[in-house]
Amino acid sequence: MIRAADLIERKRNGAELSEGEIADLILGFTLGEVPDYQMAAWCMAVYFKGLSGRETHSLTDAMIRSGETLDLGKALGRRVVDKHSTGGVGDKTSLAVGPIVAACGVPFGKMSGRGLGHTGGTLDKLESIPGFRVELTIDKFVQQVREVGLAIISQTGDLVPADKKLYALRDVTATVDIVPLIASSIMSKKLAAGADAIVLDVKVGDGAFMKTLEDARVLAEQMVDLGRRKGRRVVCLLTDMDQPIGAAVGNALEVREAAETIAGSGPPDFTELVLDACAHLLALSDLDIDAAEGRRRAEAAVADGSASAAYERWIRAQGGDPDLAVLARAPDVREVPAPHAGVVVRLGALAIGHAALELGAGRRTKDDDIDHGVGVVCRKKRGDAVAGGEALADVHAHDESSASAAIAAVQSAYAIGDQLPHAHGILLDVVE
Ligand code: URA
Repeated sequence: MIRAADLIERKRNGAELSEGEIADLILGFTLGEVPDYQMAAWCMAVYFKGLSGRETHSLTDAMIRSGETLDLGKALGRRVVDKHSTGGVGDKTSLAVGPIVAACGVPFGKMSGRGLGHTGGTLDKLESIPGFRVELTIDKFVQQVREVGLAIISQTGDLVPADKKLYALRDVTATVDIVPLIASSIMSKKLAAGADAIVLDVKVGDGAFMKTLEDARVLAEQMVDLGRRKGRRVVCLLTDMDQPIGAAVGNALEVREAAETIAGSGPPDFTELVLDACAHLLALSDLDIDAAEGRRRAEAAVADGSASAAYERWIRAQGGDPDLAVLARAPDVREVPAPHAGVVVRLGALAIGHAALELGAGRRTKDDDIDHGVGVVCRKKRGDAVAGGEALADVHAHDESSASAAIAAVQSAYAIGDQLPHAHGILLDVVE
């Protein structure tokens, strides 16, 4: 018999719960024996009192045990790599990283989620490719990673059902932004999905969960620790999310930009992020190379066209058409003019994410439909000089009224000043 009220009270008073108690709570919640209101109260107690490293580990373990697990390394006889980002605006990194890593001979298998709110989900981007199937059985997933070297599919309901239920509850009870709960939520899914080596990308800035580098470091350290305790090789990049990544924000627009980046003509900041992630993934793989050599091989795969070939093989394997000309296009494309001349000193990621959401690129509730063609392309980024009236960005809209609203929203996301107060690249730190 689980005494949930007792566990809530002890956590509220700052006690450390045992592994067995946390396991009972999570199992009871998954089976419906612990009701939502008690689980929500426990999460709120965690918000105020935190979890120790041991408790976070027990929570992650209990979540993993709530469902099935995969052992990709065993199934393939190779070290399989995976990556995960905490979510950002214009974050199409996996779409570019997967093919480059596969072209370098390292199997890449990833399960992804859909987007909610201002950050887009990888699955939504992939579904803007006509014919692309994200729902594969586990057997097909493993077979595709073996034969094609790359698969990105939707998270199956059999993996970590506890997180699915808990995340939905946290979303509506103001208990999402709690570091140990985020760490266990992300890592339980990554560990259950079975990759041996994982590169994590924690976003930092106004468009991300983590607003400061200090908070992001704490989350990164907890996730790296959870992975290591399970014998996985994990590295965490801390990357800038104060402005959108690359230029494109919106599903088909991002697929196009990812494909262009794989072919060597992507925006500089996004290219940098992709190559950094590839370098670390290759260094964690069974190629037995360091990150500098990983970077060299990733650059070579882009330059010699093998990454683009891997992209096309992958998209076809999942039923899609890799021809960029068939991607959805919005009917109404308009420029957003700069109000005066100067330098872009700020480009708010959150504001651009919301503008894309309002255009129809994202969903406000789980059941909203997505318009794959719409979005924003930021032609100017932080540090760029602009002339008065020059285009800062383009909005890709479904109709005139949503275009006008988006132009105003995108214009107010930009601040134009005299000079950039400080400059930094997209990679802020690495936690290993
Ligand atoms: N992403 C997740 O998967 N879980 C969280 O708790 C937060 C972000």
